[in-house]
Amino acid sequence: MRVLVGITGGIAAYKAAEIVREFTELGNDVRVVATPNALRFIGAATLEALSHNAVSSELYSDIPEVKHVEMAQWADVILVAPATASFLARTVAGLADDLLGNILLAATAPIVIAPAMHTEMWLNSATVANISTLRSRGYTVIDPSVGRLTGADTGVGRLPETAQLVEATLATLEFQDLAGKNVLVVAGGTREYIDPVRYLGNKSSGKQGIALVTEAKARGAKVTLIAANFDFSASDVVTYRVETTAELISTIDGLSTAFDFVIMPAAVSDFRSEVLSTTKLKKNDSSRMSLELIQNPDVIAEISKVGKARNNSLKVVGFAAETATGIELTQLAKSKLDKKGLDLIVANDVSNGAAFDSDTNSVLILGASISEEVNGSKREIAGAIFDQLLKLP
Ligand code: CTP
Repeated sequence: MRVLVGITGGIAAYKAAEIVREFTELGNDVRVVATPNALRFIGAATLEALSHNAVSSELYSDIPEVKHVEMAQWADVILVAPATASFLARTVAGLADDLLGNILLAATAPIVIAPAMHTEMWLNSATVANISTLRSRGYTVIDPSVGRLTGADTGVGRLPETAQLVEATLATLEFQDLAGKNVLVVAGGTREYIDPVRYLGNKSSGKQGIALVTEAKARGAKVTLIAANFDFSASDVVTYRVETTAELISTIDGLSTAFDFVIMPAAVSDFRSEVLSTTKLKKNDSSRMSLELIQNPDVIAEISKVGKARNNSLKVVGFAAETATGIELTQLAKSKLDKKGLDLIVANDVSNGAAFDSDTNSVLILGASISEEVNGSKREIAGAIFDQLLKLP
């Protein structure tokens, strides 16, 4: 296993030597990236001797090697220990002002973060919010343990024991239960143009789609994403950007991969304008305007029908956005599950616009013999969907 150990500038940095040693003893290839502040607490020579590799610290050294990308792609897993409060804030902000920050932004490998700091800093609402954001983005954060701190006091904030950190880091790699699976995620919201500048659209942010892509990648799948009107890029996710339902359909038709799972949280516009004006529509004297709409095809029903005729092990997951709760929500979702020929449907109540653009949601996952309620981050919901998919016959 190729383990990249990131070290930031806190007193617990001295314990990183033991962590590096433990990884190498277990037969892993280890490379260390220490921030310049980390090297105030621990010497590069110690880390180089224990990792059998040079320590990288500077962004502007070895430029021709494009180190941040090379190291990000090299790593099977990244552990940052200790992670300072400042490092957490920089990571949440997506700052790339040092080598470690650049590597984290470029990496697609699982990232484990072990914060260590004084109790008050750990409990500060800024740190609490940063930890929650990092978790919702899929980072594994290991809570600090309770015990003696740098000064005479004790409390929560200590870097956990080396064995716990090493075990938690390697465990992220054992969970590759989607290895070998080809996953297509179709997400976002389509737009239907009326004239060159106006369209009918919806509030979908694409966040559930990004969570599905991130989860699938972390569990070892090969992922293709069709992103309707939101931005996403990751070096190892084939991504197609579309605007309209017609573009979405032609992109799907052009895919040659045989998928195992197709998951579609996309809010597809049910209707499009019958005529598309090539010039900007003008106000006329009337105070009213009518727009004739025609129905779009049901994309997921077609994927299910055509895809399963070619490959009967294909599993298709749809979403049902309803303004209903309880038994009514279940019934509406069940009827979509059957009508569209789906294996699973993920239903949620979108009354008052709930769920759109949010990082959390509350859903019901339904299948022929499955009914599971999940409340949590969109990443947790993505995890539950894949868990259920893997249990299907
Ligand atoms: N869907 C689709 N093509 C459409 C409409 C929806 O593929 N033309 C997909 C969505 O991506 C989602 C599922 O069907 O996975 C359910 O979408 P939803 O908007 O809840 O349902 P509709 O089929 O549009 O039905 P209604 O709007 O009448 O509730």
